[in-house]
Amino acid sequence: MTDPKGTRLAGRVALITGGASGLGEATVRRFHAEGAWVMIADIDVQRGRSLARHLGDGAAFVTCDHTDRAQNEAAVAATEAEFGGLDILHNNAGGPFAGAFETADDQTLERVVGVNLLGVMKMTQAALPSLRRAGEARPGGAAILFTSSLQGIKARPNFSIYTAAKHGIVGLVRSLALELAPANIRVNAICPTVTETAMLPKFLPGMAADMDEARRRFRATIPLGRMPEPIDTANAALFLASDEARMLTGVALPVDGGQMAG
Ligand SMILES: NC(=O)c1ccc[n+]([C@@H]2O[C@H](COP(=O)([O-])OP(=O)(O)OC[C@H]3O[C@@H](n4cnc5c(N)ncnc54)[C@H](O)[C@@H]3O)[C@@H](O)[C@H]2O)c1
Repeated sequence: MTDPKGTRLAGRVALITGGASGLGEATVRRFHAEGAWVMIADIDVQRGRSLARHLGDGAAFVTCDHTDRAQNEAAVAATEAEFGGLDILHNNAGGPFAGAFETADDQTLERVVGVNLLGVMKMTQAALPSLRRAGEARPGGAAILFTSSLQGIKARPNFSIYTAAKHGIVGLVRSLALELAPANIRVNAICPTVTETAMLPKFLPGMAADMDEARRRFRATIPLGRMPEPIDTANAALFLASDEARMLTGVALPVDGGQMAG
């Protein structure tokens, strides 16, 4: 899959959490290639800095743990200082947790819900004053995206806490879409199925010993018959963030090769 250059986000400023690797990195690269100024907000300082350096003009990095309110506010302020505003917030940071629900201790419950749901709420709150200004200033308005998961709209066993948090994102998207429509801010989620990233062994637990076999078995569950790649999620995010999606809000878009259709 090529990474064409274009102007679909020319003049727009995007802040992408978890932008240093995986799906977030693919989205950073895609948005940047389409003319956006991109702030990478991540706890992985080394990868984040190196990606920003590699992309050059129009990309910057800020250290940010999105579960921390003050760090979110600082990341938004750094974005405004660097690029002069904020038009697109992509709440992408998060991560899977597979394990028994019944025996999970408080620390585990709070950590998984914290990183997958509370963090995106806190970052959204931090960004809203800037996004409201963008919503007023541009006819195309502002956009908030969330990386939920296919597990935000359906379930599989052994991922209950993660699944509950990712469903929570979809509920938040629907509510905020209604609340923020008058402010010209669109709110949408992408719901990727298991995708070819470094996280693959965590999403296919118990199969990590033979990843080729795990891939083959997983691919067999996808009607289109191929493994999704990060660029597929990035392309969906690009569409939802761009003015081409100006009539779309409150949507939870599966990026799943047809799994939800069955
Ligand atoms: N990879 C998949 O198959 C898949 C499928 C569905 C949904 N998702 C979701 O996509 C998102 C990205 O996952 P990925 O697979 O690209 O993982 P990844 O580990 O490759 O990337 C996640 C990034 O988030 C950063 N991060 C982690 N905790 C953070 C925090 N508290 N604050 C800021 N940054 C933080 C990490 O440093 C990393 O750079 C997650 O929300 C994940 O739940 C992934």
